[in-house]
Amino acid sequence: MFRIKTILFVTIAAAMALAACAPAAVATEAPPAAKAGLACSPNCEYSDLVVGFLQTGSEGGWRAANTASFKETATQVGLKLKFYDSQNDLAKQVAGFHQFIQDPEVNVIVLAALETTGWEEILKEAQTAGKIVVIEDRRIDAPEDLYVTYIGSDFAEEGRKGGDEMCTLLANSTTKNVWELVGNVGSSAAKDRGQGFRETMGACGIEITNSQTGNWSATEGKAVTEAWLKASKDVDGIFAQNDEMGFGAIEALKEAGLTPGVDVQVLTFDATAGAFKSMLTGELAVSVECNPLLAPQVYEAALKAANGEELPKWVPSQEGVFRASDPNLQTIADGRKY
Ligand code: AHR
Repeated sequence: MFRIKTILFVTIAAAMALAACAPAAVATEAPPAAKAGLACSPNCEYSDLVVGFLQTGSEGGWRAANTASFKETATQVGLKLKFYDSQNDLAKQVAGFHQFIQDPEVNVIVLAALETTGWEEILKEAQTAGKIVVIEDRRIDAPEDLYVTYIGSDFAEEGRKGGDEMCTLLANSTTKNVWELVGNVGSSAAKDRGQGFRETMGACGIEITNSQTGNWSATEGKAVTEAWLKASKDVDGIFAQNDEMGFGAIEALKEAGLTPGVDVQVLTFDATAGAFKSMLTGELAVSVECNPLLAPQVYEAALKAANGEELPKWVPSQEGVFRASDPNLQTIADGRKY
């Protein structure tokens, strides 16, 4: 009798010990979409976060400042950052996303999306794997319950500001022919800046007489402008959707014998250090600000989500406009971080 009781006791104890080590549940079908929040919730700290950051690439000064913000802030707050350079290639960005979903160490994925569309399935996979997803810089077209928040600019508003500024720059010009250098065409920054500019340019009769992608790059911006200038010099303004393409356009204008800031007004977006340098020479007329220093807000949002907090679905950046005509421009430039 004593022996039977002992065997029973040992068997039950062993079964209980095994159950304690096993995964919480052996699912027979796909688990329901995981809610944001980590095992450490509600006491997670930055040191509990391992962030996989899917950067677009390294296309210019704005992007360099954005990347530096993520790397420097990670060190400051004490979280582990795994950085993935998508090299401006959508297939590579999707592969990187899968890599982070499968990485058991990564609990937060930050996406700077190359394109607005096509993210729904992979976001569902990330949610099922229990990853917290934060969208930074570029908004996406996907159901909002698939990510915790989007932190970035109101690109349409930037575009509207650009249209207003170009109207002011061309106020005394009898013709208002503007050439548009577009970023990578599927991105939210390119789509929304283009749309916003068109919403306000009509107020003063601006016409966009040329429009083509320069893929955010100075080299491509220059090549496209050169080709246009060979066909006609009938241009009053250039609406370059970022600083880099504007720098390329300025080079092309000068090589064609035109004086930027006098013959042609160049307007860009980002307001990087390079833009301030160019505005201080008078070549670049206006740069509409786009804030790249987003990492502190992104990491804070990820931590809040890790602790189970609900977040607003969009936290827009506060941004200004900088003009070559501003007498305080040098002082403003001296106080800027990028
Ligand atoms: O999404 C922000 C845009 O991306 C910047 O304007 C551009 O320079 C960058 O590549």
